[in-house]
Amino acid sequence: MNHIYRNFIRPILFKLNPENAHDIACRCLSLTEKSNFSRKLIQSFTYNKPSVVNVFGLSFPNQLGLAAGMDKNARFPKTSASLGFGHVEIGTVTPKNQSGNTKPRLFRYPKYNALVNRMGFNNDGVDVIIKRINKSYPKGNRTVPLGINIGKSKQTDISNAHDDYIYCLKKSHSEADYITINISSPNTKNLRELHRDSYIKPLLKNLVSVNLELAKQNKSSPVPLLLKISPDENFRTIENIVCQAKELGFSGVIAANTSTERLHNESFESFEPGGLSGKPLADKSNNLIKFISKVTNYNFPIVGVGGIGSPDAAIKKLDSGATLLQIYTPLVYEGPFFPSKLIHSLKHRKKKWI
Ligand SMILES: Cc1cc2nc3c(=O)[nH]c(=O)nc-3n(C[C@H](O)[C@H](O)[C@H](O)COP(=O)(O)O)c2cc1C
Repeated sequence: MNHIYRNFIRPILFKLNPENAHDIACRCLSLTEKSNFSRKLIQSFTYNKPSVVNVFGLSFPNQLGLAAGMDKNARFPKTSASLGFGHVEIGTVTPKNQSGNTKPRLFRYPKYNALVNRMGFNNDGVDVIIKRINKSYPKGNRTVPLGINIGKSKQTDISNAHDDYIYCLKKSHSEADYITINISSPNTKNLRELHRDSYIKPLLKNLVSVNLELAKQNKSSPVPLLLKISPDENFRTIENIVCQAKELGFSGVIAANTSTERLHNESFESFEPGGLSGKPLADKSNNLIKFISKVTNYNFPIVGVGGIGSPDAAIKKLDSGATLLQIYTPLVYEGPFFPSKLIHSLKHRKKKWI
């Protein structure tokens, strides 16, 4: 199936502008969402033997998940599960719907298996998205865990960002299996300022305490909170942030978001401004994961994301210290059956449980 995609479907999609191709792919996946028969058919072509991983109190049928950004509006979580993904992260969602940055805002670099995007959190808004999840993929009736990735609105000043995160946390609490606090998109002005010491500690503390309050009110367990970080911060900042997150009761960290650096390759300097993803991000993300593993004494779960374009790249990321993996850009280059290939290739690898 991967070779059909590469030889026949990809050349057609790559003739279209990247965002139109993305919209067409998403529309196809959304159509399948509504048809049990189509999803069963897809499943018959995928590797779906479970290889369970238990991490942050959740049970994942395998280690590979869909990264945030692909299904921003939760339109096809069931189809993603049928393709073999062991978890699905939707979003980034913001308090109100927003249209994102002006187009064009997504660019392909096939020679490097890379993308650059400056989407800017285009999404339907948390209220609409939570209603959609509640209707189509409700908690308690899921085949794979659903993560909800939350962010701040474009208009919200950075000094009030915590209001947006708290709002989205409250709205998402009852439907999310885990919630990701995204402080690392390069395409929302000043968002990465939240990595600074003066912002991060009160933000994380506040989120943890609201999470506990909500759990008490609803007589449920607190939802695992993950922090998605930037690969462009210096290691001292990263150490400070992940150690605080761990200490304050976060369940793990997602490393990493896209990069604004052009990673010491002259050809990348001509790339469009925005967040770079795919193969050129792999080493940077692996080094970050190794560092986080070390400074957290190898007992703070890491979701590794960035450039997992082959089984070897997946193994490298796990060897660097990741417990779970996520992909986005490799789907564009390798197609919808690539997750199944990756999961199959990981089946003999020894599991690492935290
Ligand atoms: C078009 C596009 C949109 C994205 N949107 C989001 C987003 O809304 N929130 C987020 O946390 N990450 C977003 N990401 C980042 C991915 O989740 C992931 O961290 C990054 O692309 C690296 O993984 P990859 O090399 O497998 O793509 C986006 C990535 C791309 C390519």
